[in-house]
Amino acid sequence: MLTHGLSRACGKANESARTAVVPARTARRATLHMSTGERKFLVGGNWKCNLATASIGALCEALNDGAALDDKAVEVVVAPPHAYLSMTRSRLRTDFQVGAQNAWIGKGGAFTGETDAAMLRDIGAEWLIVGHSERRHLPELRESDATSAAKARYALDVGLSVIFCVGELLEEREANQTLAVCERQLTALANAIEDWSKIVIAYEPVWAIGTGKVATPEQAEEVHFALRKWLSEKVGQSVADKTRILYGGSVSPKNCVELAKLPDIDGFLVGGASLKPDFLEVVDSYKSAIASAV
Ligand code: PGA
Repeated sequence: MLTHGLSRACGKANESARTAVVPARTARRATLHMSTGERKFLVGGNWKCNLATASIGALCEALNDGAALDDKAVEVVVAPPHAYLSMTRSRLRTDFQVGAQNAWIGKGGAFTGETDAAMLRDIGAEWLIVGHSERRHLPELRESDATSAAKARYALDVGLSVIFCVGELLEEREANQTLAVCERQLTALANAIEDWSKIVIAYEPVWAIGTGKVATPEQAEEVHFALRKWLSEKVGQSVADKTRILYGGSVSPKNCVELAKLPDIDGFLVGGASLKPDFLEVVDSYKSAIASAV
């Protein structure tokens, strides 16, 4: 039975979730990793509509100065604004990939102001973030489930990998609608695509984005586990085993290690903390994920 208490936000620990959910799954992750070796840890940095030439140059230099990564164990993607994608690609270390934050729904043409995902690929993007809560909920945008799903489909068609974001509003969590909302968003995706090999899901509770109110480990693991179960029931066991589910929402160097250890958290999508050099500390949490899986 899922619980939807806002423990961190309300300052109350969700004890039933802690005792009922977490220990069993720690063992499960170890089993999954041993049996299939899938789900390389992934850390994404979503720069949103921030930074400019000078600050991106400085950030790239700081990230380039970071330690070498074990590329068998972790991958890193940063998503600058479109205007700086080429520049970021040319200045950033080559073991970090670059992605875009949004694209037009399909092929280009007479769509003033829009960008075809193929153009983004052409200038060096390997990833596209789709269905971020700001695109779904900003009153100026209000992107529908179907639109997000169609964008994901087209991005895959032109060879991009996709970080597909799902997550509930605070009032939806309080109305016990968390899973219903995430599953509705995923159902639209499942109806639009067949091949899940280049899809990564990001669970980002909207109430945790940019608010400093990170989900508790229990809250995050509970939803990640449920989404993986949904994948196994609706799409297939192999897709459930292989698809990475990132957590996003106020992830920082302070909270990432604890979250990274959870069995169904396969990485992070980081907003505010990706604008600073200590993004590297969040990237480094892959080591805790590995340590907890053995
Ligand atoms: P945040 O943003 O880390 O600043 O909360 C996360 C996101 O929007 O992806």
